Amino acid sequence: MAGLARDGLILGIETSCDETGAAVVAGGTRLLSNVVASQVEIHRRFGGVVPEIASRRHVETLLPVVRQALDQAGLALSDLDAVAVTQGPGLVGALLVGIAGAKALAYGAGLPLVAVNHIEGHIYANRLDFPELEPPFLCLIASGGHTELLEVVDWGVYRRLGKTRDDAAGEAIDKIGRAMGLAYPAGAELDRLAREGDPEAFSFPRALREGFDFSFSGLKTAALTLWRQLQDREEVPLADFAASFQEAVVGVLAEKTLAAAREVGAQAIAVAGGVAANSRLRQLLSEGAAALGVPFYVPRPAFCTDNGAMIAAAGYVRWQRGERAGLDLNAVPNLSLDG
Ligand code: KG4
Ligand code: ZN
Repeated sequence: MAGLARDGLILGIETSCDETGAAVVAGGTRLLSNVVASQVEIHRRFGGVVPEIASRRHVETLLPVVRQALDQAGLALSDLDAVAVTQGPGLVGALLVGIAGAKALAYGAGLPLVAVNHIEGHIYANRLDFPELEPPFLCLIASGGHTELLEVVDWGVYRRLGKTRDDAAGEAIDKIGRAMGLAYPAGAELDRLAREGDPEAFSFPRALREGFDFSFSGLKTAALTLWRQLQDREEVPLADFAASFQEAVVGVLAEKTLAAAREVGAQAIAVAGGVAANSRLRQLLSEGAAALGVPFYVPRPAFCTDNGAMIAAAGYVRWQRGERAGLDLNAVPNLSLDG
């Protein structure tokens, strides 16, 4: 392993929500393994993540997932340079399982422990597919729990331009998807249905046209009201509703991202988080970035949703900078990025 060791071999552990993720990444960009045990099937019958169940499931799956990640990379724990783990934001009980596991592994193998912000992890997912990506760039992070527009001034230096004032984009998608009878989480299925529908069939309110903050709760209420009204029809226009609702969510994400890019003179635009897997959002942003003449980056869908590789990629830069967490590391459920 002598050659690889120079690159910095980082084990990344992610347990902030309902995916147990472990991955080994070399040099912050080279993926050696990536294992994700999703709990989606378990939470599906509840229509969302049940925190207690998530924590217990992480306890059961964490070590097998880590073992699989090491096996796939063909490495032993002692070959690694550090263990990186999500400190927050996320569900406190779920985070604590990953942190306790990471501490035990690091202590047992005599490796440094590195704490990573989950949102930062999402941003770094881009480097797994685009190692050439360097700050400064503008990044939209849209997931089930977060919607933020940030300027990545330098690695580790973030300036927040806007965030959601109520629901996250993915949260709104999952709630409306649930009303529509789609399985949790609804994003991928809504995306698929929307491709067969007319995005202009129904018009939805778009809140906060000015500035870079987002709001999705009014849209959610309007969509629920319309959905109920549509039930009176002989044939419910599922695909048209899906396309119009999706357009209202991702249209505003793309519009504000592109407006921010113009205002700050962004040199590149990136997008991250589960909603970045959305095909319409990817299309709108890639066309918008091309019109502005700036490069556009979006990770492959598997790196958009939660995974350990993005935590290893972010952890690498912190490790290189000499950042080390103590064995007293605690979970911070509302950890922020710009403060
Ligand atoms: O990043 P992520 O895995 O978890 C959080 O950190 O929250 O994001 C999950 C969210 C869910 O709301 C899911 O419905 C949404 O990402 N999502 C999508 C798509 N794939 C996943 N939303 C829209 N279109 C998709 N293709
Ligand atoms: Zn996430």
